[in-house]
Amino acid sequence: MITQKIQETLNAQIQAELNSAHMYLAMSAYCESRTFKGFGHWLRVQFQEETGHAEKFINHLLTRGGHVVFRRIDAPPSEFGTMLQVFEHVLAHEREVTQFVHGLHDVALAEKDVATQVFLQWFITEQVEEEASVAELVEKLRMVGDKGGALLYLDKEAGKREKG
Ligand code: FEO
Repeated sequence: MITQKIQETLNAQIQAELNSAHMYLAMSAYCESRTFKGFGHWLRVQFQEETGHAEKFINHLLTRGGHVVFRRIDAPPSEFGTMLQVFEHVLAHEREVTQFVHGLHDVALAEKDVATQVFLQWFITEQVEEEASVAELVEKLRMVGDKGGALLYLDKEAGKREKG
């Protein structure tokens, strides 16, 4: 059985993951419309991963006999600026998600919900990896600035991202 508090927090996290997915899909469309197909592809893979994260939380909640309650998804912006600004936005967002996951872990500890603590281990590791890969991309984008050839090279590289 799951406590009310854990149930509410997991439902909030499902909303956060779906919000992330929604925003990354919007960013992907934005990049593609600017002819950056590689960055668009990278963000589309990210969108799929976030949808997968939401499903993991839904499955955990259902397996524990909890009740899944969907909430409103925010409308993402339609403009995201330069490619550097797009990925700075992704990095800031992922850092926020990491804080949510850590907060969720704190709640699981306080509620003595060991199963949820174990379940969250995967997400804690995943956030470390996600932040590292986005931070690397941001660093490279800072290095190349708006130099056309180098930016197109990074776009091509981003287009090789495989589905997680
Ligand atoms: Fe589901 Fe990127 O955090």
